Amino acid sequence: MKGLILSGGKGSRLYPLTYTRAKQLVPVANKPVLFRVIETLRDAGITEIGIVVGHTGPEIREAVGGGKQFGVDISYIEQESPLGLAHAVYIARDFLGDERFVMFLGDNVIEGGIGRLIGEFRDQHYNAQIVLTPTDNPQAYGIAELTDGPERRIVRLVEKPRNPPSNLALVGIYMFDPTIHEAVRAISPSWRGELEITDAIQWLITQGHDVHPYIHRGWWIDTGKQSDMLAANAKVLEELTHKIEGYVDRDSTVDERVTVQSGAEIVNSVVRGPAIIGRNVRLVNAYIGPFTSIYHDCVIEQAEIEQSIVLENSRICDIPYRIADSLIGRDVEVTRSEFRPKALKMTLGDNSKVGIL
Ligand code: G1P
Repeated sequence: MKGLILSGGKGSRLYPLTYTRAKQLVPVANKPVLFRVIETLRDAGITEIGIVVGHTGPEIREAVGGGKQFGVDISYIEQESPLGLAHAVYIARDFLGDERFVMFLGDNVIEGGIGRLIGEFRDQHYNAQIVLTPTDNPQAYGIAELTDGPERRIVRLVEKPRNPPSNLALVGIYMFDPTIHEAVRAISPSWRGELEITDAIQWLITQGHDVHPYIHRGWWIDTGKQSDMLAANAKVLEELTHKIEGYVDRDSTVDERVTVQSGAEIVNSVVRGPAIIGRNVRLVNAYIGPFTSIYHDCVIEQAEIEQSIVLENSRICDIPYRIADSLIGRDVEVTRSEFRPKALKMTLGDNSKVGIL
């Protein structure tokens, strides 16, 4: 079985972070979401993986390379413009050959990996398997209507319905056999101009092929926007097995559920877990609250932060208020200025959001 990861898209809901970085490379608990997806596939025994990339392709190639660091073999497939998930399958035809495969959206994070899912698909002769989970926001996803009773079968699938027939969302993980190649060639673009994978799977159902619904019971997050990133960060931090590799001085208090990565230094500070402090981070007279990830090479001094993600090489120093629920980019400086006039002095990228007390 092969793996196909979709890693294109503009990530516009995560601006300004994604002006300068592919959304799949934004870290959750100090590891890019895309790396988590690759490791999930590998842990399910899939080592031949194709990644479909768009205009952020060069950055993704640089970060992932040939896959050696993960113990897998990666090929890249260029998608000239974001023409849809079914279009990604269409252009991956040569890579996929006639094998069965798992398609995984590169910005999805799911509880507990996909080992069971893959096992179930491998042992059966379904043409396709989709993963469904209840959602509070059914207008935002592909939605499945199922029959009642113990043998639940799919009645139909609709992409982002105005009047949802159920609350069962299609999770961004799909398993297919080669009949999907016929389907992606048979459908037409949707109102948003994309070849929808939901329409291709609906085509399989209409043609009488066997599509199996798997209901996922744990959490699942499509990390499209800031609140999703923070939610995924919190969930993954809770799942981590924590360990301390860096230095914690005697005046500091660091909870059990805290990871301190190598080269980090914690001086006269308090860190409440679950949290992760990245490589070579320096915390001095700082408070790091629960559900916080501080990425490599940051300095946090005389400042308090919780429920937040800070990307690499940023400095937060001498701040009289606690920072919370924030997503702070790379090389950012949040400092106190001694100079007059006494005012907030900001250099903010387009689409930045600042909440002031
Ligand atoms: C895509 C699919 C949708 C699915 C979702 C999961 O949506 O079209 O059916 O529920 O991924 O993340 P998109 O992210 O393209 O809006």
